Amino acid sequence: MRGLLLLASVWISSLPACCASYRPIAKSQANTPRTQHLLEPIYEVIHTHRGANVTLPCVLHTRPRVYKVKWTKVNPADPLENIILITNGQLRKNYNQLSGRVRLRHGHRNDASLIVTDVRLEDDGKYRCQLVNGLEDESLTLILRLDGVVFPYQARLGRYMFNYFDARQKCEEQDSILATYAQLYQAWTEGLDWCNAGWLLDGTVHYPIINVREPCGGNIPPGIRTYGPKDTKRDKYDAFCFTSTLKGQVYFIPAHMSYAEAAMACQKQGAAIATVGQLYAAWKFLHLDRCDGGWLEDGSVRFPITTPRARCGGYPDPGVRSFGFPDKEQRTYGVYCYAQK
Ligand SMILES: *[C@@H]1O[C@H](CO)[C@@H](O)[C@H](O)[C@H]1NC(C)=O
Repeated sequence: MRGLLLLASVWISSLPACCASYRPIAKSQANTPRTQHLLEPIYEVIHTHRGANVTLPCVLHTRPRVYKVKWTKVNPADPLENIILITNGQLRKNYNQLSGRVRLRHGHRNDASLIVTDVRLEDDGKYRCQLVNGLEDESLTLILRLDGVVFPYQARLGRYMFNYFDARQKCEEQDSILATYAQLYQAWTEGLDWCNAGWLLDGTVHYPIINVREPCGGNIPPGIRTYGPKDTKRDKYDAFCFTSTLKGQVYFIPAHMSYAEAAMACQKQGAAIATVGQLYAAWKFLHLDRCDGGWLEDGSVRFPITTPRARCGGYPDPGVRSFGFPDKEQRTYGVYCYAQK
């Protein structure tokens, strides 16, 4: 794993020109004007995970006589301003999907930091803290990053069966959401190599390549291959899903069961047959390692490997291996269950 990371970091510097404009973290803070009232953030990127409480710091250096602070979620694809909260000291307004999960920290008189509780997958992204005082508004931008894992998702019947909306739904069914470009990019630096194009959250289509080969974009340096924006209704691809840490536990029941028997076996123990997203999260965050194929909720059979060994799939890298979608009556596999803590 470490060797792979090292290699990947070398490859990043040779990213093909096609993708340069998609670099996730803007380092171009130099061209934002220095702020008079707002303190420059110590960290622009704040890391968290699903279910956590997180603070987005925004502190006033000096306070104008009259002002409001406006927090927004920045979505370049959305022309409407996504207001989370406006305050003038007394009045507060909560908007959108964060409603009920945000409040101001008020650690001291100059503190306008935002607390987000019970972080969800869709909270990942850019946030702006804006000081509105009628004269010169100023703002700072922070990036909230969820630690997580990206996995490719393909239909039972093979590749390229999902339009954008199908892809979005498929990820949701797997306890995940469509990945952002930044998430796919990070997954690529961590070893994701997948030669089928998939939808991302913004309606663009890409795939990550580490081992350069002819059918996967040809003989250009490793990187994210980009198809750009596609027709969300008509064009069909796979999906890249993103999920984060689990509240519960994933475990394996060894047996020879049909799909229906497998689902029943989990239920009997007060658990549920695990989704693909839950298996990936358990592999990534709980280091689940098991050399046995098990049924999952979508009817696929997979197993998670953190310590690669010759007799467990034979691949040199860690990963979740798949047997595809076997006949549901077949009594060959055990089952992976998910139990809430
Ligand atoms: C988050 O904050 C709420 C109170 O606002 C608290 O009940 C909860 O336990 C906190 N969650 C975590 C993971 O710290």
